[in-house]
Amino acid sequence: MRMVDIIHKKRNGKTLTEDEIRFMIEGFTRDEIPDYQMSAWAMAVYFRGMTDEETAYLTRAMVESGDQVDLSAIEGIKVDKHSTGGVGDTTTLVLAPLVASAGVPVAKMSGRGLGHTGGTIDKLESIPGFQVELSQNQFVDRVNRHKIAVVGQSADLTPADKKLYALRDVTATVESIPLIASSIMSKKIAAGADAIVLDVKTGNGAFMKTPEKSEELARAMVAIGKKIGRKTVAVISDMNQPLGRAIGNALEVKEAIATLKGRGPADLTELCLILGAQMLVLGGRADSEAEARRILENSIQSGKAVETFRQFVQGQGGNPDVVDNPELLPSARYIREVTSEQAGVIQQIDTEALGTLAMKLGAGRETRDSKIDQAAGIEMCKKINDRVNKGETIAILHSNYVEINDNLINETRTAFRFSEQGRKEIELIYKIIHD
Ligand code: URA
Ligand code: CA
Repeated sequence: MRMVDIIHKKRNGKTLTEDEIRFMIEGFTRDEIPDYQMSAWAMAVYFRGMTDEETAYLTRAMVESGDQVDLSAIEGIKVDKHSTGGVGDTTTLVLAPLVASAGVPVAKMSGRGLGHTGGTIDKLESIPGFQVELSQNQFVDRVNRHKIAVVGQSADLTPADKKLYALRDVTATVESIPLIASSIMSKKIAAGADAIVLDVKTGNGAFMKTPEKSEELARAMVAIGKKIGRKTVAVISDMNQPLGRAIGNALEVKEAIATLKGRGPADLTELCLILGAQMLVLGGRADSEAEARRILENSIQSGKAVETFRQFVQGQGGNPDVVDNPELLPSARYIREVTSEQAGVIQQIDTEALGTLAMKLGAGRETRDSKIDQAAGIEMCKKINDRVNKGETIAILHSNYVEINDNLINETRTAFRFSEQGRKEIELIYKIIHD
């Protein structure tokens, strides 16, 4: 077999066989197939696409290119959740303990933030003492005892995806649905999930800007799950404004604790109930979404959800007192309010701009090696369709190392667009896609 023939075939719009895809991914992982050939192939895929079968073969080959986490020592159906990335997306911090409190094991590997999107591991590290690294034995033991553990990725998962993603990033081939879908699904499958709930974000703060594109990506991922035998559900949710009110690591931990106590923002709470219900159904804990939702709501009302969060924090070395005293979390030296220079109703929010601003304040990373300011971020005081008076506070900026000057204040203001009436309606959930 020769790589040049595989590129040729794809360039001409033909369908590749499983053997061809495996040959290519194995060769590329071992550095036997050079970057320039792999780049040419990625560009051919960008223009020609791939069938659902080819995409599933690619996913499986990438899963098998590295380590695979074995979660068989954990009892029950392991349901993982993945978000395609957003701004102030606090869901995992709420969902993991919420779902675990209902008896579904959560054995999760999470990532760090990059660019305008945050990462769960950075958020958890803002809890004093919290350890994001556990040995495989500790990890399994925690989940069997407390139903929950969340760790950073330690094993060498999907090296083929890492190499391919780096190439795509510099060859203008990131935006290909089959390549994105296989990239995401390969990581979830290698991490040992039996079933997967995907939160596919859509809007101006998301990777996919329109509901149509998001649905296409969601369907491609659900199709992979079906072919590879992992039940997968995709929820398409709104990212035309930050989720909840907090953007930034410690700020989001506070928000998650409030939400687990039943006092969180309505949108974050609702999305967690929707995603959590899907996880309970896939995990065999409930027969219907309605039943699952009741279980989760009871868990919040009874205090079981926040209690599970407390045990989770303690189990991983963190200070459990943050649950009752969120002021124990890092706080910022500089705090400034952003007031509105006009009156009106908020029509639009430039979500990606706020994500980038939070990063500049220190909440995120410009490059992989940047250091995080755990206290930095943005509190959203107003959201879409809120009425604002002139001089009223629309957001509060937090930072320890960046002095918050008028430029940053003005940048924040520019992210808010006003009108007379606001919008007719804003959807939180666009669609739920089952296989
Ligand atoms: N996220 C991923 O993990 N992979 C992609 O290809 C795009 C986004
Ligand atoms: Ca949030």
